[in-house]
Amino acid sequence: MKGLKIIGLGGALPSRTVTNDSLGEIMDTSDAWIYPRTGIHERKFCAENESALTLAVRASEKAIDNAGISRDSIGAIVVASMSADMATPSMAALLQRELNLPQVPALDLNAACSGFIYALEVARGLLSADLNVYDIYNEDKDGGNSIPKEPNGKYALVIGTEQLSRLLSMEDRTTAILFGDGAGAAVVKLYEDEDTENNKSCLYTSLLGSRGSGVIEAPAIYTGAYENTLRKETDCQGNIDHMLMDGKEVFIFACDIIPRIINGLLRKTGTTLNDVDHVVCHQANARIIRHVIRAMHAPEEKFFMNMEKLGNISAASIPVALYEMQEKGLLHAGERLILAGFGGGLTWGGCVISYK
Ligand code: ACO
Repeated sequence: MKGLKIIGLGGALPSRTVTNDSLGEIMDTSDAWIYPRTGIHERKFCAENESALTLAVRASEKAIDNAGISRDSIGAIVVASMSADMATPSMAALLQRELNLPQVPALDLNAACSGFIYALEVARGLLSADLNVYDIYNEDKDGGNSIPKEPNGKYALVIGTEQLSRLLSMEDRTTAILFGDGAGAAVVKLYEDEDTENNKSCLYTSLLGSRGSGVIEAPAIYTGAYENTLRKETDCQGNIDHMLMDGKEVFIFACDIIPRIINGLLRKTGTTLNDVDHVVCHQANARIIRHVIRAMHAPEEKFFMNMEKLGNISAASIPVALYEMQEKGLLHAGERLILAGFGGGLTWGGCVISYK
């Protein structure tokens, strides 16, 4: 099987810091209520000149530099987000233009907070496929600079980026306190099991799933034709104008699905948690992760947490956590990671992947 490994990471956070105390000045809430229930003290919100795309550009530049590869060798660009700047061009296409990346497949996908895991798997599919993206230019002798140099590039740029502050109402304390903005990017490399130049301990596998449910909803271009379930149970009339969530349902779902993802991945790979160096879960809520640790009798030190200063940044949560781990010197070449995400959809996804 062809697998992926992470060879570069980058992250970018917006400039505005919004503390629980400052939220308490504009809505009926407090740090004393938020922190014990979520593990969140503050989050970052985009300033006027920042967006999911500008953050994605910064994170991608860092990831490419960190990987030490040439931009020409990128073979696919996949962006996961539920808060894209535009419907079209996709953020992946805009990134391609901003970073002058080769003319390779580029797309956005929305699997909410599981998006980065979905994006990894889509990137693996694109890198593995025989897409002939180069042949159509090789016939054109005058194609010049636009001809990518390495056919079927071995690397993909995979990004999770969000501007969730755009989807929040500062009049709804049940969701406004939970979310933040940010972007994380990874350069991943396709490898073959039998490839001897690669580290033999490389392991890659993934699990993905979705269960149609309206327990988390956020606005897009709403036509009014679709009667959703959650809105009927809230005061929100007409079009959804901000993110709505049944927090308790999500909490129960998350506590159930994360151990299933981790155990499923361990079964699939015939490994145990002892064979894994770090578990990086979607950083929605410290209570959820602590519950998982207790339920699995797992070693706490393997589970990274950084929601305290960032809140929940949906698709960006896992790659930003990975980037912060790298920056703190917590990741070492050859280490094996489990990534586990869950979110709106309801979606879930996890993978085992190696670092460098
Ligand atoms: N400040 C103060 N009081 C509040 C706030 C607030 N921000 N929000 C709600 N309350 C009040 C409620 O009105 C309620 O008051 P009442 O008892 O008088 O009715 C009381 O606090 C308790 O509210 P609950 O909703 O029962 O609070 P709970 O303990 O369940 O915590 C929370 C809410 C933190 C949202 C929790 O359910 C949770 O963490 N759920 C998981 C959410 C999650 O992880 N979502 C992200 C995943 S999905 C994605 O990423 C897109």
